[in-house]
Amino acid sequence: MQLSRNRIEVMHGVNLGELGRRDPEVYGDLTYVQLERRITEFGRELGLETRFFQTNHEGEFVERLHKLEGLADGIVLNPGAWTHYSWAIHDALELSGLPAVEVHLSDVDRREEWRRLSVIRDLCLARVAGQGVEGYRAALERLREELER
Ligand code: DQA
Repeated sequence: MQLSRNRIEVMHGVNLGELGRRDPEVYGDLTYVQLERRITEFGRELGLETRFFQTNHEGEFVERLHKLEGLADGIVLNPGAWTHYSWAIHDALELSGLPAVEVHLSDVDRREEWRRLSVIRDLCLARVAGQGVEGYRAALERLREELER
């Protein structure tokens, strides 16, 4: 089915631009650019148009969320370490009013205790963690389901 709303903002936070240099045992060996390419392909297969944003500055992440109204129909976000403590990102995500899915490359529930808390969890349709790049496909599928309704 062709979707009338198909614009997905894929947002990455702090340190995710350094993929490829981060521990490959935990995060896989794709660089950030390669990750973007894979996600673009997943989107295409699902009839979704993906646009990317990555920053190491929390305020920029927040401001991007502020501007999404009318520019995107859904959000896939991996805020990196901000996931675990940024109530500012929580509030900005809430303000966006868009359906969102949280993704983590690594299995955050099986790592350090502090990674178990996600402050954005209550605002997301789903959370995908520990599936590496494939997790983004699952996230896009979940958003597609939502946008079909
Ligand atoms: C991460 C998990 C976070 O705990 C960590 O701080 C990251 C990446 C992930 O994708 O597995 O930077 O979000």
